[in-house]
Amino acid sequence: MQRLAPALREDDVSHDLISLIKTILAATKEISFRVGQGHLSGLMGSTLDENIQGEIQKELDVVANEIIKDVLLESGYVKAISSEEEDTTVVGNPEGKYLVSFDPLDGSSNIEVNGLIGTIFSILPAKKDCPAYDTSMFMQPGTQQLCAGYVLYGPATMLVMTTGKGTHFYVLDRTHGGFLLVERNVSIPEDTHEFAINMANQSHWQPAMQKYIVDLIAGKKGPRDKAFNMRWLGAMVGDVHRVLSRGGIFAYPSDSKNSEQPNKLRLMYEANPMSFLVEQAGGLSISNQQRIMEIQPSDIHQRVEVILGSKNEVKKCMKYLD
Ligand code: AHG
Ligand code: MN
Ligand code: MN
Repeated sequence: MQRLAPALREDDVSHDLISLIKTILAATKEISFRVGQGHLSGLMGSTLDENIQGEIQKELDVVANEIIKDVLLESGYVKAISSEEEDTTVVGNPEGKYLVSFDPLDGSSNIEVNGLIGTIFSILPAKKDCPAYDTSMFMQPGTQQLCAGYVLYGPATMLVMTTGKGTHFYVLDRTHGGFLLVERNVSIPEDTHEFAINMANQSHWQPAMQKYIVDLIAGKKGPRDKAFNMRWLGAMVGDVHRVLSRGGIFAYPSDSKNSEQPNKLRLMYEANPMSFLVEQAGGLSISNQQRIMEIQPSDIHQRVEVILGSKNEVKKCMKYLD
């Protein structure tokens, strides 16, 4: 089985970018170890602090953030970082070639139930002529990403990553501590009978979205003439992993629960990296009828609607929303 660096070299990834990716993965190996310790890690509780999103941080959110932040800032490769758990961008090496946005732990509400959680990351090029503290450097659409991926802390710790030459699966081999390539060029089936959505928000979606889901649930007797199944893990990283593994549609649509915050998922460190992975696997990823990766960001913590997965199913959903 191929190791990470040779696999990346086959995709023509530059030496510096490989080194940066290895830096991120070194941090995720430490997080994987702590996650695997469960209650023994002493990190299962909540802090008393809220992050910029107004969400109470879990101890593991904070520790994962510190681990990744420290290795990135020490690496020298990174000009600045942005994280779900940091109010603003954090400055690294002024000469660094890269910017990294990350969600240190996605699916934090799964921590206490020993459910799926993961780290999501996105690498953008840094501008040479911009000072490292200039947050506007991050305002690049997802199409500019050089690399995107996530590390899933499941029964196996898996890396799913793209550098624009297909989406590949790797598994952490705990016997020697490296990520080994297990599936090159993953491909999402174009059709599916599986959907993932938080049904508890149904009454808050716009009518067209409600109609789309009602028709899926109607099954063989409904207008779709097809039996659908629902799966929801409560962690985007796990739900998207299922979509990449066997197809499906994942949606976190806009809703009217809180008029000031119609969307849940964050563009820079959730929607964009997942969209890059899904598109590289032949799927689609949209938000309000627009390709997510073409959205011009206006804020590092911006939230967007997300509908992604099997090509034909996403297109069908778009027709309802049109
Ligand atoms: P995070 O743990 O990084 O804040 O992200 C959680 C996100 C995402 O993983 C998931 O799909 C969604 O929140 C679930 O939220 P709800 O349970 O509120 O629907
Ligand atoms: Mn998240
Ligand atoms: Mn998070």
